[in-house]
Amino acid sequence: MKIDVLLGLQWGDEGKGKIVDVLAPRYNVVTRFQGGPNAGHTLEFSGKKFVLHTIPSGIFTNGAINLIGNGVVLDPAIFKSEIDNIIDQNPKIKELLKISKRANLILPTHRILDAANEAAKGKSKIGSTLKGIGPCYTDKISRNGLRIGDILRPDFKQRFDALTQRHLREIESLGFKDFKMEDFLKGWFEGIECLKQFEFVDAEMFINEKLDQNRSVLAEGAQGTMLDIDFGTYPFVTSSNTICAGACTGMGVAPQKIGEVYGIFKAYCTRVGAGPFPTELFDETGEKLRAAGHEFGATTGRPRRTGWLDLVELKYSCMINGVTQLIVTKSDVMNDFDTIKACVAYKINGKETMAMPFDIEESIEPVYKEFKGWKTDISNAKSDKELPTELIDYLAFIANFVKVPIKIISVGPDRKATIVR
Ligand code: GDP
Ligand code: IMO
Ligand code: MG
Repeated sequence: MKIDVLLGLQWGDEGKGKIVDVLAPRYNVVTRFQGGPNAGHTLEFSGKKFVLHTIPSGIFTNGAINLIGNGVVLDPAIFKSEIDNIIDQNPKIKELLKISKRANLILPTHRILDAANEAAKGKSKIGSTLKGIGPCYTDKISRNGLRIGDILRPDFKQRFDALTQRHLREIESLGFKDFKMEDFLKGWFEGIECLKQFEFVDAEMFINEKLDQNRSVLAEGAQGTMLDIDFGTYPFVTSSNTICAGACTGMGVAPQKIGEVYGIFKAYCTRVGAGPFPTELFDETGEKLRAAGHEFGATTGRPRRTGWLDLVELKYSCMINGVTQLIVTKSDVMNDFDTIKACVAYKINGKETMAMPFDIEESIEPVYKEFKGWKTDISNAKSDKELPTELIDYLAFIANFVKVPIKIISVGPDRKATIVR
């Protein structure tokens, strides 16, 4: 059996949580392979709404095993609050959720360092979610990190203290004083006690055994391709590989074990935090998208920047990830638009190109194609037949442009508001 991967193709918040929840009943195992509590994945069903940060979005699916892979960075305090919030929905969660021994731990001082680094950057700050992601991955790469498996070592507290002291010296050297360690420590160690109630596994062995036993696995990406550490709008990115290749390193599966690659995108674009965004709208239309799409961060509550769909970017993301099927979300947000635009090329120094430039910061003028709006409420549509021709044409143009078929159309936040073609 192969592992299917679902990834965000833009700047995150494409609706990954919702779609993983929809697809999860087809799978035995759902995994997360990178990122951490910077992610906010929203799921809605039976009038209830949940936001997951670390736990895979298959957790509400009966009997599915959910696995947190080695590529994830985990904050014990946030993990505990997620568990407390959903345990009533899944009383078997302690049996069904497994965690890789190799996943790295976010320490309280990683969060403080994140704030200190951002403060030191001044105007050029990234707009991080301040969950300690960058500093934690930095420690992982520089071989200083603490991992889930370390929790069970007799000298775990000494290791924690040593790393914390090292961080405190770094924080001091940045001149950052705006924090109190006491605010974090209690919750963090309560989180460690909570974690100990779960099984820590050699996840790479676990997942490969499942594949050998013909069990189906869905890997859930976090963030999006344009936030990838290598291929995103660097340095305004996150600190992990959010792309398909990240699923291999973040779980311990070989490239030839990857099956379908579901690429998910919004029918327009959003971005939260700083950094280039060629099709950003600063006018009433941008405001209309934000209001109709409830575009406020699921993790930080920050208003999301909004803009038209960027097909140069989408095509690039399909290439990097080897997307085999597209999923479009939030077309319903544009139910009331007379005209819809999509960027089909970038004009740089007077020249049109469809290539993603190295420095997307330079002045890019998007070249737009206009589409007629559908001016119809599509949120109750159950099949293609119930969708307006204008929307069908818009989607057909996108699929043809990027040369990947659109297989799922999401028309609302609820699990049921989904058309599988
Ligand atoms: P994720 O990080 O990719 O899981 O996405 P988020 O949960 O951060 O943001 C997506 C938001 O859009 C959430 O509030 C979802 O409930 C909502 N959503 C998902 N799909 C749709 C859709 O097709 N239509 C509408 N209107 N909302 C959607
Ligand atoms: P999901 O999984 C949208 C953005 C932050 C910031 C940059 C770096 O919900 O799609 P970090 O905290 O990683 O140091 O922030 O990346 N960012 C996200 N934007 N959705 C996310 O996750 C994000 N995770 C990080 O806003 O610009
Ligand atoms: Mg999100």
